Amino acid sequence: MVSFLSTLQEATPDPFFVLNDLYSKDPKKEKVNLGIGIYRTEEGKTPLMSVFLDELVAFIERARAGEINAGYLGIEGLASFRAEVPRLVLSDESRALKEGRVQVIQSLGGTGGMFLGAKLLAQELSFKQVFVSDPTWSNHMNIFDRAGFQISTYPYRDIETNELAFDRMLSAIKEMPRGSVILFHPSCHNPTGIDPTEAQWAEILDLVHKQELFPFFDCAYQGLGEGVEEDVFPIRAADSMGLEFLVAVSFSKNLSLYQQRLGALMVVGNEKDALHNGVEVVKARVIRASYSNPPALGATGAAAIMSDEKKKQAWLLELKEIRDRLKEVRGKFVGALSKRGLASEHIAKQKGMFSYTGLSKTQVLELRDKYSIYMTTDGRANLAGLNNSNIDYVADAIFDCSK
Ligand code: LMR
Repeated sequence: MVSFLSTLQEATPDPFFVLNDLYSKDPKKEKVNLGIGIYRTEEGKTPLMSVFLDELVAFIERARAGEINAGYLGIEGLASFRAEVPRLVLSDESRALKEGRVQVIQSLGGTGGMFLGAKLLAQELSFKQVFVSDPTWSNHMNIFDRAGFQISTYPYRDIETNELAFDRMLSAIKEMPRGSVILFHPSCHNPTGIDPTEAQWAEILDLVHKQELFPFFDCAYQGLGEGVEEDVFPIRAADSMGLEFLVAVSFSKNLSLYQQRLGALMVVGNEKDALHNGVEVVKARVIRASYSNPPALGATGAAAIMSDEKKKQAWLLELKEIRDRLKEVRGKFVGALSKRGLASEHIAKQKGMFSYTGLSKTQVLELRDKYSIYMTTDGRANLAGLNNSNIDYVADAIFDCSK
């Protein structure tokens, strides 16, 4: 009998989650997961941060005392959380914040923030075309495609030099039609780990402004590159220039809230009434029509941490430990590769959680088949999957697959 589902076109499964499954099912004892972007400790664990654990305990105590209202949050999310997001991303010195030109909507992770923004631009406004870096996080394609955008790319990584293809990127921006959306990773570019310098960002944003393009920042790794302030440089620069833009903010990585799905869409606009209306449109036509309203637990903890200076400093210290470990592992990985005569200078210069190794798809698949080392076929390796017990195993395997 023919099923009602039989006319469906086949979907392409998400490469990160497929890889995770393959890794989990691999019976080999010596296996290494360098796939999906989840932080892991030297012991291979992804724990909750202690600052957040304290908030969970406090939450339970308040709940037991009958002090928690367990009803729905508003469609736009928790007010105290929404108030803290621009302070973190834009800072208290923000021009837009001082001028009352910022609105924040709580979202289901950073992906949720991207989704809300893409829907607003393509379905509720008349934006048609988006330009993303080549390469970019594969889910960007998925999100913008489902929202109805035409997707094009701009040059980002120079294959010869493994550096930013800065001149070609600028030339491409000059050719973009006015009114196009341009997607940026403010830091820790996913997948390449290659970030423009501050001077390069200034040039890029000047051009974006001249060309009347609309910037959309995917801020998924604030604090994992150089620091929470440094990692949002281009967003703050766009703010100082008085531009209008969107930011999708994620707390998966920098507060280890992967499972709580905590993020935000931050909207910076130059007309207060239009800005207010924009948020109402997202609430009524996108959020209420899909998941209705966001979850409270992650937002409650995050708001308590960010609004209390002592707790915030404790969080930033824990975040620094993550950042420092990533840097240390990067150094060791570079050392292990160069000891075996393999090129690694490009990896040393990259920032954040990933190293874009330059390994080909064939080499990646050989690493998987022969050594049970898992990374995405573009050669991106999550450095957090490396530790003192497996780094030489991985370097030896890469050496073998590079012959
Ligand atoms: C990744 O690129 O691996 C991460 O952003 C995880 C995800 O959500 O896909």
